[in-house]
Formats: sequence, C-alpha cells, structure tokens
Amino acid sequence: MEDILEYQCPYMDPKLFQTPKTLDTSRFEGEGPTPFSYIPFGGGPRMCLGKEFARLEILVFIHNVVKDFRWKLLIPNEKIEYNPMPTPIKGLPILLQPSGDIASDCQ
Ligand code: HEM
Repeated sequence: MEDILEYQCPYMDPKLFQTPKTLDTSRFEGEGPTPFSYIPFGGGPRMCLGKEFARLEILVFIHNVVKDFRWKLLIPNEKIEYNPMPTPIKGLPILLQPSGDIASDCQ
C-alpha cells in the first residue's frame, strides 16, 4: 500500500485559503495559516529539522538575485503539472542579466 500526499490540496481549499491563486504574503502575518494547512516542511513531530535554515538560505538567495539581477521568464505562460508537486513542464528557464553594482563590475 502506498500513501501519496497531495501537497497542493490544502492550498486550494477555500476554507483554509480564501484567495489561493493570489500572491498575498500577508496571509503569513500574525498567527499565520491554520496548523497543518501550509506543509512544505511537513508537520508534527517529524517536521523538517532544517526548516529555519532552509528558509534563511532561500531568503538570502532570493534577496541577492532580486537585488543584483534583472530576470525574464523565457516561456512566460509555461504550463505547470502536478506530479503531485507543482512543477513547470519545461523547467522554468529564465534569462538573468546583471544590474546595478554587479553590472558595472562586469564592464
Ligand atoms: C527547501 C528546503 C527543504 C524542504 C522543502 C524540506 C522538506 C522536508 C519535509 C517535507 C520533510 C518531512 C517532514 C515530515 O515527515 O513531516 C523533511 C524532513 C527532514 N528535513 Fe527537510 N526540507 C528542506 C531542507 C532541509 C535542510 C536544509 C535540512 C538540514 C540542514 C533538512 C533536514 C531534514 C531532516 C533531518 C528531516 C527528518 C526529520 C525527522 O524525520 O524527524 N531539511 N524535510
């Protein structure tokens, strides 16, 4: 017997997230989402031990990419498949161009 957890199911449930397709970071403010409704790192006693480290790493990475590069989606309306994780079918290719200080360092 095999159990597969459909990770996107709670995110699309209007009882848990009223506007699931809207980018609304305020939903994480205050007490944040209901327990076990936002589960990229699992939940309960076996929840990911590296959760805070991973979040910090991702934050630093995104900060530097947004600050130092202009980026453009090469396939703007690329389809997403659910396998069961949401995955861009062509791998989400992007074009990165240095901006600001990095761009002048390159000249
Ligand atoms: C984006 C990055 C990461 C994601 C999405 C992720 C996700 C997960 C998930 C879904 C689980 C299973 C939780 C459960 O069964 O309820 C898990 C377990 C675990 N993760 Fe991560 N993880 C990430 C990064 C990391 C990092 C950086 C570390 C260590 C430095 C780490 C260490 C662990 C460990 C040790 C467990 C097993 C915990 C246990 O079974 O008690 N993870 N992770």
